[in-house]
Formats: sequence, C-alpha cells, structure tokens
Amino acid sequence: MELKEKLASEQAVVGVIGLGYVGLPLGLTMAEAGKRVVGLDVDGAKVEKLGAGQSYIRHIEAERIAKARSRFRASTDFSELGSCDAIIVCVPTPLSEGREPDLSYVAATAQTIAQHLRANQLVVLESTTYPGTTEEVVQPILEATGLRVGKDFHLAFSPEREDPGNARYSTKTIPKLVGGVSPQCGEVAAALYGSFLESVVVVSDARVAEAAKLLENIYRSINIALVNELKMLFERMGIDVWEVIEAAASKPFGFTPFYPGPGLGGHCIPIDPFYLTWKARHYDFSTRFIELAGEVNTGMPYWVVDRVVEALGEGGKALQGAKVLVLGVAYKKDVDDLRESPSLKVIEILESRGAVVSYNDPYVGSLRAKKLRHYETFELDSVELEEGVLGEADCVLIATDHGAYDYEWIVRHARRVVDTRNATKNVRHGREKITKA
Ligand SMILES: NC(=O)c1ccc[n+]([C@@H]2O[C@H](COP(=O)([O-])OP(=O)(O)OC[C@H]3O[C@@H](n4cnc5c(N)ncnc54)[C@H](O)[C@@H]3O)[C@@H](O)[C@H]2O)c1
Repeated sequence: MELKEKLASEQAVVGVIGLGYVGLPLGLTMAEAGKRVVGLDVDGAKVEKLGAGQSYIRHIEAERIAKARSRFRASTDFSELGSCDAIIVCVPTPLSEGREPDLSYVAATAQTIAQHLRANQLVVLESTTYPGTTEEVVQPILEATGLRVGKDFHLAFSPEREDPGNARYSTKTIPKLVGGVSPQCGEVAAALYGSFLESVVVVSDARVAEAAKLLENIYRSINIALVNELKMLFERMGIDVWEVIEAAASKPFGFTPFYPGPGLGGHCIPIDPFYLTWKARHYDFSTRFIELAGEVNTGMPYWVVDRVVEALGEGGKALQGAKVLVLGVAYKKDVDDLRESPSLKVIEILESRGAVVSYNDPYVGSLRAKKLRHYETFELDSVELEEGVLGEADCVLIATDHGAYDYEWIVRHARRVVDTRNATKNVRHGREKITKA
C-alpha cells in the first residue's frame, strides 16, 4: 500500500510527540477516527496518567482518554517511532530569557526522530514557529541520516489552531492548514489530516503555513493592543470601552470585535509574534506593529494596578497594606492554564507595591511549587470564596472572568471591585462599588 493511501486508512500508525494542550487532543481525535496512535512524551508522569486513563488537562475528560485506550497509547519509549507511518511534532516553542526563539525542543525532537527515521515516513511539525523552521532547522537534522526529503521521507508543517475551552470548535472541526516542503510532501500530509479532520487547506509550501499561523496570532495581538489602548483613552474621556465595542460590533461587515483585558496571556499570543520579529531582523526589517502591540499589552498589568490604587483611594485607602483579593489566575476564562497569565504579573506588581494579596481560582488550587517562567514562586494557595473573604478584602480584582463565578453575589459582598473583563456587566446591585479597568 502506498504511504498516502495507508495514512488515510485505519492501518496507519501515527506517533504524536509532545502530549500537551495540542498533542493530546490531536492524538485522541485521531484515535477516535480509528487510527492507531502512539503518544510520546519526555514527561513520565503524564504518560503514567494517560496509561491509567486519567487526564491532566481540565477540558479533556478522563472518560475520553479511557475510551480511546484501545487505539491511543502513551509511552516514553521513543524507539516506537520506527514503527510509525507518520510522526507529528507538538513540542513547546517558547522564547528564551532574551526574548529570542527557543527552538531547543524542536531541534531535540528532530534529533530523536532522526535516530529512528526510515524510508516511507511522514514527519509533520505543528509547533508554532517562524517561516523557514521546517526547512532550515528540521530538514537538515533529518537529512543528516542520509535519507532525502521528498524522495525517501516526507516533511510538512501544519500549524495547530487549538483553542482550549472553546465549546464551538474542536480539533476535528477547525480547518487545518498544511504546507509541504515539496508539493508531494504537502499531498501526503493532507491525506493524513483529511482522513480524520473535517477540512484541510493545502498551501504551496511549509513557509506559507508557518507564516499564516503567525499572521493569525499577530492579528490578535495587534487588535487586542488597539482596544487596550482605546480603553485607556476612553476611560480618561469617561466613555465605557465595552459599550463602544458592543456598539461597533453591531456592524455586520468589516468589523471583528476584540476585547481589552489585564494583559496578554497563554502560550501563543504573547510569544509567537516575536518569532517573526526575530526572523525579520535577518532581513533588515523591523516589525513595528508587533513591537508596538507588545509595548501596549505589556503595560496593561501596570495600568490595572493603577486602577486598583485609584479605586482604593476613593475609599481613602492606600495600596500599601491593602488587602487585595484577585479572582482568576488562569490566563483566560474556564481554563487551568497559567502560562504567561497576566494575573501573575498583576499579583507581582501589587505585592511589590505593598499590597497583601490573596487569590481564588476554581481551577488553580495553588501557585506554590509551580514552575512559572519569569517569576519567583508565589507562596499562595487559592482561598475559599466566601462572603467573609470577599468582605474582608479592601478590593476584589476580577482578573479572569471564569464562568463559575456568581458576579452578583461577589459584588454584593465585596467592598470594592475592579473589573478587568466586564464580567460584572449584568450585575444589578452595588454598581457604585465597581471600577472597570
Ligand atoms: N496551547 C495552545 O492553545 C496552542 C495553540 C496553538 C499552537 N500551539 C503551539 O503548539 C506547540 C505545543 O504547545 P502546547 O500548548 O501543547 O505545549 P505543552 O507545554 O502543553 O505541551 C508540550 C509537551 O511536550 C513535551 N515535551 C517537551 N519536550 C519534549 C521532547 N523533547 N520530546 C517529547 N516531548 C517533549 C512536554 O512534556 C509537554 O507535555 C507550541 O509550539 C505552541 O506554540 C499551542
């Protein structure tokens, strides 16, 4: 059977490297569609949990893992790659301390694949990265084996568009971009994805697919920065930015609403645009929109803390020594993901300015012993959200608008509320206590 044909069939064995927010749902989706999947990760604890039918990602139910068990297996034994027809790479692509692309995970994974690479395999990189990575970083490592891309094995890039917690779109229903290092590589990769996803869009090469993913995230970053800047202006003018956005969104064409907040969070939007900024420097090009958006968005946690200072000041209270209860430390609504969460920055600034900070998050029980990039470990555990806890705080700061919160109840029992998400929009009583930020 030809590789293309095999990949489209239930005979295919697919290896997924990196079982995180991207790799795990992808592996499960393939298994659910009838493929045999080997999930590989260097984190033995994750592999063990999956083996026991448990989940470590809040929005992926254990039941789904247990159900997929006959077709989805997790392992730390990378020699299993030799028996895979396709290998999909979903490892992290963070920024280094100097805010440069850290491709060490991708390169290490390519080295591991190279040890087991054989003719007639497909390798796909899904990790978000700058245009050229698949050809300039992955291909040379794989070709050092003596095998040739397009001749012996196939290589493609297919960006992940996962949106954790999004109830409307899942891995299966989000259209998938595919770009091969050669047209044939693209076709082979499209045969695999087309066999378990609803829609596949093939582009002319891997660089287009890499660039398209960055465009998507840069577009978000810039538009969020725009509304964050307008929020600060409109606040000074006494205009509610949320109402303005809602009004503008009534236009049925030519406008997509973006919403302000306490700053950017998550593994993608605060990081990915700077992959392009770095690459652009090699072409003597400066990505001014990206830099400007980064500047505005980075300033948001500081602006939010200034609003807390103002809100406290209205009651004659200084931030120094004030008790501030932060609601929500995950970077966005209804997820348990702390990566790059602006709440952490807000807590750090509040503490550095003398506030006594506590927090509640239904999905993050503790910040102790968490590996949080850029931060010293916080010595904080989530407090129970009770009337007394709300009433004791000089200010309650809504940083993440989790759906589990009863905002009417929160405002009723709080002395003062600073709301960065317009979460209190429908609260009827006690509106005079609310400051939007
Ligand atoms: N999280 C998202 O919503 C999202 C969305 C789109 C794209 N992405 C991109 O997808 C990629 C993966 O992101 P994620 O959120 O799944 O990350 P993650 O941190 O949740 O998962 C990565 C996994 O890779 C494993 N890993 C690290 N090094 C490894 C190695 N050498 N070999 C095998 N496994 C290794 C880690 O243990 C971890 O389980 C990144 O490039 C990210 O930018 C993420």
